[in-house]
Amino acid sequence: MPDREIPGDRTEPAFLPYGRQEIGDADVKAVVEALVSGWLTTGPRVVEFEQAFVSHVGAKEGVAVNSGTAALHCAMRALGVGPGDDVIVPAITFAASANAALYEGATPIFADIEPDTLLIDPTSVAARITPATRVIVAVDYAGQPADYNALYALAKPRGIRIIADACHAPGATYKGRATGTLADISCFSFHPVKHLTTCEGGMAVTDNSGMAAHMRRFRNHGIDSDHRSREAAGAHAYDMVELGFNYRLPDVQCALGLSQLKRLSGWVAARQRIAALYEDALAGLAEAVPLKAHRDRTNAHHLYVVKLMDGIDRDRVFARLRADGIGANVHYAPVYLHSHYRKLGYKPGLCPVAEAVSRQILTLPMIPAMTAGDVRRVVGALTRATA
Ligand SMILES: Cc1ncc(COP(=O)(O)O)c(C=O)c1O
Repeated sequence: MPDREIPGDRTEPAFLPYGRQEIGDADVKAVVEALVSGWLTTGPRVVEFEQAFVSHVGAKEGVAVNSGTAALHCAMRALGVGPGDDVIVPAITFAASANAALYEGATPIFADIEPDTLLIDPTSVAARITPATRVIVAVDYAGQPADYNALYALAKPRGIRIIADACHAPGATYKGRATGTLADISCFSFHPVKHLTTCEGGMAVTDNSGMAAHMRRFRNHGIDSDHRSREAAGAHAYDMVELGFNYRLPDVQCALGLSQLKRLSGWVAARQRIAALYEDALAGLAEAVPLKAHRDRTNAHHLYVVKLMDGIDRDRVFARLRADGIGANVHYAPVYLHSHYRKLGYKPGLCPVAEAVSRQILTLPMIPAMTAGDVRRVVGALTRATA
């Protein structure tokens, strides 16, 4: 059966959002089966989804949680991040990458980015390391992995751990190694605009079984067993050994994730094909350049980001694209410029490259079902908008 279409897709040039989930009949069937299975949450599909996901990425342990943000929070806890610790985070990322450090009472320290990839700049990280640094968060921005070798060269001798915020990059590789295997703990998101969706959801992935056990406990209030294991043992007693949260991902959503996972590789390949089409189509447009691709990495292309030439009014281009039915977006403003971070004392000027580049970037639609015609339509609109 074909995937459902958004009404209007075929009759008019519909508004093309920057990202969109793809839900097929197999997904609907899997969800319905889970709904009537007797296990809505903490049931067998959670473990099945965890195992299927980690075997897909080539890691040992996966802890399914109800958002990518929860995965980052679990990772911070499992790595022992707490008050007095610094956590180095790139300035250009979704706020959750830094917020997870705040949840644990630690201090986010913002590192600058490489201007042509928007990935965390190891030189800037090196300049920010102090004895208080406990963790570096490497964000695989837009779908391209960060430079893990350079980051570990800084981190390892100092006992600093690395969390991969791989929310943009399931299916990408760094020097032939898959995301999910590149850091102490890697975090994924299954939000609808991501590569595969569970409506909301995420997973923390690691090869360290002690950390995985800690994160499983933390997602369940800090309780040392879950409902299903107590049912199996015919036991009622449990102990809450630390203050955790309810970050559990229900079975119904894991069923959707399991069904979607079967198409993940195909979707990543489709995104890569669309990126290649964009690159060709943009070759003749001096006003907008794609981000640089490192040769030792493959890109899962969560977002298709271009940098506009200096002097172009990005917000005007954004508005013109929107008026033309193109769902352009911006990912991201520097995290520390948000009001909450300003209230904490962060000030403009911390990361000059990030501040400059964040005014030039524009995210163009990237949806696996896009055609070559869709790409031409977007680039045509961009050409008009930048003229
Ligand atoms: C880089 C990055 N980190 C973390 C998250 C948080 O994921 P979620 O929305 O599933 O909590 C996102 C989601 O947008 C993200 O893009």
